[in-house]
Amino acid sequence: MSRILFALPGNEVLTQSLAATLEAEVGETVIRHFPDGETYVRILSDVHQKQVILVCTLHQPDSKLLPLYFLARTARELGAGSVCLIAPYLAYMRQDIQFNPGEAVTSRYFADLIPGIADNLVTIDPHLHRFNHMQELYTIPAIALHAAPTLANWVKSNIAKPVLIGPDEESMQWVKEVATLAKAPFLVLNKTRLGDREVQVTQPEMAKYEDHTPVLIDDIISTARTMIETIQQLRKLSPLPPVCLGVHAVFAKGAYEALLQAGTAQVITCNTIPHMSNGIWVDELLAEAIQSTTSQRKV
Ligand code: R5P
Repeated sequence: MSRILFALPGNEVLTQSLAATLEAEVGETVIRHFPDGETYVRILSDVHQKQVILVCTLHQPDSKLLPLYFLARTARELGAGSVCLIAPYLAYMRQDIQFNPGEAVTSRYFADLIPGIADNLVTIDPHLHRFNHMQELYTIPAIALHAAPTLANWVKSNIAKPVLIGPDEESMQWVKEVATLAKAPFLVLNKTRLGDREVQVTQPEMAKYEDHTPVLIDDIISTARTMIETIQQLRKLSPLPPVCLGVHAVFAKGAYEALLQAGTAQVITCNTIPHMSNGIWVDELLAEAIQSTTSQRKV
């Protein structure tokens, strides 16, 4: 079955790059809004009996979901052999438990929507915390790729003497793997979240690492409060300004600027979400995973 890739708005650069690596066609669409705010979708390319790959990273997901759904439905109506969703950043992974009575467990509800769009899913470092595996949430085949080797390569090539720091226990999974691959020491701190934009982070034990460059690593940078609080702790203890590495540059409004002003040497993210801080590329990782996806539609 031949392959055709479609970029949802904002995903054009990654889509072109994946298509070039895979020697696949890039499909043409019209996706726009009517004056009343409803979405218009049209597919101009032939998708009949092809593996349709929809590339749509899912930060700010609410406005992306309907265009994505309509495009997938249209592809199926036009005879697509199968539909695969490439969502380098997967949304709604953080509300994975009811913290207070009456709350929506949106991780689960969101996961229930995706089989209405795609037959399989490829993502990178989904925020698996209380769920350990994608298949606990997703009923379609879901590949979770890991950026750790790519992050480790960056650390090895750019930081002479690093000490890696994870701001909270959830970050242990990434930090430990990056540290092992980069052959660097690591510390994992404790974080208490007091609100959407308020966190407390414990002081790192930096005594042994005063001549090391602290490299903070987290999966998501959203308000950047986690990174900023960690930087503030480090500034009391380390003479060297820290480098911040994030997989997903979600960056809520003003967060990137606040992080730059907090005393970091550098902020580098993966291109799972297009952002000016991108400096670590996941294209190859995604292309390999697409190669491995079955093009059969789930029955
Ligand atoms: C949390 O559990 C994640 O691993 C990140 O630490 C969190 O998403 C960062 O959020 P913020 O940038 O808003 O502090």
